[in-house]
Amino acid sequence: ILHRRRRMGDMPNWVRAMDIVTEFEEKCGTPIGKLRQVADAMVVEMFAGLASENGSRVKMLISYVDNVCNQIFNRNRNEDGLFYALDLGGTNFRVLRVQLDAGGGSIKNLEFTEVAIPPELMVGTSDALFGYIAAELANFVAQEGKGFYLSYGRERELGFTFSFPVMQTSINSGTLIKWTKGFSINDAFGQDVVAALTRALKKQGLSMHVTALANDTVGTLAGGRFLNRDVVAAVILGTGTNAAYVERADAIPKWHGPPPRSGEMVINMEWGNFHSEHLPLTDYDHALDFESLNRGEQIFEKMISGMYLGEIVRRVLCRMAEEAAFFFETVPPKLQIPFILRTPDMSAMHHDTSPDLRVVGTKLKDILEISNVSLKKSKVIVKLCDIVATRGARLAAAGIFGILKKVGRHASENGKNQKTVIAMDGGLYEHYTRFGSCLENTLKDLVGDEVWQYISIQHANDGSGIGAALLAASHSRYLEASET
Ligand code: GLC
Repeated sequence: ILHRRRRMGDMPNWVRAMDIVTEFEEKCGTPIGKLRQVADAMVVEMFAGLASENGSRVKMLISYVDNVCNQIFNRNRNEDGLFYALDLGGTNFRVLRVQLDAGGGSIKNLEFTEVAIPPELMVGTSDALFGYIAAELANFVAQEGKGFYLSYGRERELGFTFSFPVMQTSINSGTLIKWTKGFSINDAFGQDVVAALTRALKKQGLSMHVTALANDTVGTLAGGRFLNRDVVAAVILGTGTNAAYVERADAIPKWHGPPPRSGEMVINMEWGNFHSEHLPLTDYDHALDFESLNRGEQIFEKMISGMYLGEIVRRVLCRMAEEAAFFFETVPPKLQIPFILRTPDMSAMHHDTSPDLRVVGTKLKDILEISNVSLKKSKVIVKLCDIVATRGARLAAAGIFGILKKVGRHASENGKNQKTVIAMDGGLYEHYTRFGSCLENTLKDLVGDEVWQYISIQHANDGSGIGAALLAASHSRYLEASET
């Protein structure tokens, strides 16, 4: 009968389809005990990464941001501080102009432009990528209105947010360790990214001094702490995922430089590359990794971040189409295209509250060219989105719990609790509501009600760009920064 039904067309083998979903759900399970193991494993890696340069897959990179100031004074009090930032690290890049007021360093004005990076530039040459960016930056500056004058002889200064793992050699120099998030430009390895950008800017006839180079997590942390001293960590949940936090300098054995005056150093963890036997990996994750540009790398990131969540859902659906004729007798051709189902579309389906799951229907039709999907099938698809998003959000919460443990903010200390703020940014966090709320609920479960009172997660809007401009300002040749 089953065979006949399947030949009749749109009639899946429900038993097989449900088996696939159930098995997937089981494998993706993240009970609280497992999350605690993940957090503990993260702490172990953090120690190892801080101990020596190649101590861990989690690189724990030194950012050279050792004085996250919250006041920036202009030496010439009559002039506003004008700074630029360039934020590169996902599918788009942004150019920002930030005006700090002359007196106390509050942000007076902010303008930015956002430009998509043509996909071919993500896998081309370093010159092509930096050339493209520099041209946009030159354009941005050229269109500047009056009022953006710099005093005579003063060069424009720029903070460069470059959201890839970089081995920094100073606050404004560093070499690329590897690409992540779908970028793959071979001739960029080992190059100083600031030198490459500066060269490209010169070719555009633009004289700009890059005074700070920072990861997006570090920018977000600096920006967050500028406004609020209680910020101890920053987490990015966007195309990729990563975290930075403030570490005691004496807890960094691999740091051989002069002890920072503040006694602290911001560490860019690069937690996306975390891996542990406790991670609930499935066959779909293994296949995704195997076919990726960075096989064996960024395993944590591939389970959590925006670049991959939709792709995991697509892979499960593909299997259901192949083995249980979930959609039609044949596999819908579009469903076979990697990365066709993007995380924003997955999110839209996951948040569909209409009784007939209309959004799911529309997305399937528009993206995958699958029409007339029954309500029952749509519900299964929403369920898949839920499984994938829940696993990612809970793992991210476990990572944050690991940081809290490392810095000793995870347990109550007889009423001596300090406020702990985590600055969060990235499209996944900002737009995928269910992801964000699942993350917060999970973190609350992990720390417990008592400690939770002292913890808050704050959205640092545009944090990395603003943070980079502030870092540029605090390392400026014309300004003075101070801690209060
Ligand atoms: C990737 C990058 C990392 C960045 C993160 C978020 O994990 O390697 O540097 O911070 O994405 O953008």
